[in-house]
Amino acid sequence: MSNKAPVENPYQTLLLISEEINSTHDISQLLDRIMELAMEAVNAERGFILLQKTGSTDYETVTAHNFSRERIQSIRDHSSSIVQKVLQSQEPLISVDAQQDARFGGAESIVLQQIHSVICTPLIFRNSMLGAIYMDRRMTKHEFSDENLQFLRAFSNQAAIALQNAQRFTKLEKENKKLRDTLSQKVLFPEIIGDSLPMQRIFGMVTSVAPSTATVLIEGESGTGKELIARAIHTNSSRKEKPFIPIFCGSLSENLLESELFGHKKGAFTGANENKPGLFEEADGGTVFLDEIGEINQGMQTKLLRVIQEGEIKRVGETSIRNVDVRILSATNRNLEDEVKRGNFREDLFYRLNVITLKMPPLRQRSGDILLLAQHFLKHYALKNKKNFHGFSTEARAYLQDYSWPGNVRELENTVERAVILSNDQVIEPDAFQLRSMEQKLPLGKSLKEINHYAIMQTLEMAGGNRTKAAQILDVSRRWLQYQLKELGMTDADQES
Ligand SMILES: Nc1ncnc2c1ncn2[C@@H]1O[C@H](COP(=O)(O)OP(=O)(O)OP(=O)(O)O)[C@@H](O)[C@H]1O
Ligand SMILES: [Mg+2]
Repeated sequence: MSNKAPVENPYQTLLLISEEINSTHDISQLLDRIMELAMEAVNAERGFILLQKTGSTDYETVTAHNFSRERIQSIRDHSSSIVQKVLQSQEPLISVDAQQDARFGGAESIVLQQIHSVICTPLIFRNSMLGAIYMDRRMTKHEFSDENLQFLRAFSNQAAIALQNAQRFTKLEKENKKLRDTLSQKVLFPEIIGDSLPMQRIFGMVTSVAPSTATVLIEGESGTGKELIARAIHTNSSRKEKPFIPIFCGSLSENLLESELFGHKKGAFTGANENKPGLFEEADGGTVFLDEIGEINQGMQTKLLRVIQEGEIKRVGETSIRNVDVRILSATNRNLEDEVKRGNFREDLFYRLNVITLKMPPLRQRSGDILLLAQHFLKHYALKNKKNFHGFSTEARAYLQDYSWPGNVRELENTVERAVILSNDQVIEPDAFQLRSMEQKLPLGKSLKEINHYAIMQTLEMAGGNRTKAAQILDVSRRWLQYQLKELGMTDADQES
């Protein structure tokens, strides 16, 4: 690898390796150079270096000159081999007639490979074994000398320092890169929590797709952060100063959706009292986020296809065409490909929407994020409710960690929000979470009024009779709650704390 001139004398070699200590941080380059210098200095025929694997007591061959992997293995494997002895005793070894050397008891590898002379020295840094350098010769005319061994002792000390430095440098570089990545993640996605690998992959993909104009289909279960990611794509694109317009495709009839999206002409239908631009026009230059895209019917699918293909829209009741420049992001919690197979979704539209697919991982596949998210929401809702919390108790943490979160991040967020409202201690305990069982007990099959009253009474009970808390949980005003309770025949004096 190096084009440096051959080394004349061993002390020059020592000097050279010390110099290289400061110049080579690349481990494999350094190892190659160490091997080269050592072999030149003792005039060896073949050589290899073993290093301890990180986090293990095993050694691996990291560099080899004039050796095949199998041959190295056969030398290493034998329990009586010279390499084993050096690794165990941590002392250098030399053998000038290995075939006859009683210490190796006629080890098969030595006999088979016709090794005549061997020299092997440990690489030790501050009393810990990093590995070993092995070299041999098969020709009888050159034998390793004690002088060679002495030199190798000094050399391997230098080499060990160099290696240790390079390993530390590499480790620092890695840590540094990780820190830089985390930092840029925090800058690019300040509101999105996720240290887990699946979320890191999402961040990586968002970073690459955001600047383009490609359509992105975001798939994922309910509450996994699809909308959050859509917003992040927008804010990390050159359209960030222009509008981001989310459109929920699920709830509207085709006619209403069409007029929402494309606008209408005055008098186009009853109630169309004036000319109105649609959301696509409002989003011009920005991004439209089509949420629950799987819900739209065939008619709308065709109209959307035209916007994507031609950048053209037509207001309801108009014949002229308008041009818009929008980037389209969409989301679904269905498997849209299946819908295409079933004939419910146009294949051509599917491919247009789906230049890039992002699959949001459910919370159960990134349990490492649960506590991070819980802490994040705790901070947020404590601030909002002007409360002070130190955090979750050990039991509460275990509870959060073990629960299966079918509703994903949204469910976790709601759970923490309610716990904040319900808790008065500085530490959140698990009983603040024991609310879910009640959620399932809504008395379905009754009138809305009855369900309403039932929900109010249950919530009031959950809030320990505190009307302010109950109103917060129900997300209604206290006045409204008072009014409802009055209807139920409860006076202010009945329950209050
Ligand atoms: N990684 C995250 N970090 C912080 N908050 C998150 C994260 N993921 C989701 N949330 C929060 O969880 C809630 C649900 O997220 P969002 O609305 O983006 O999910 P969704 O996949 O669009 O859900 P749905 O399918 O029900 O529409 C939001 O309040 C959002 O801020
Ligand atoms: Mg959503």
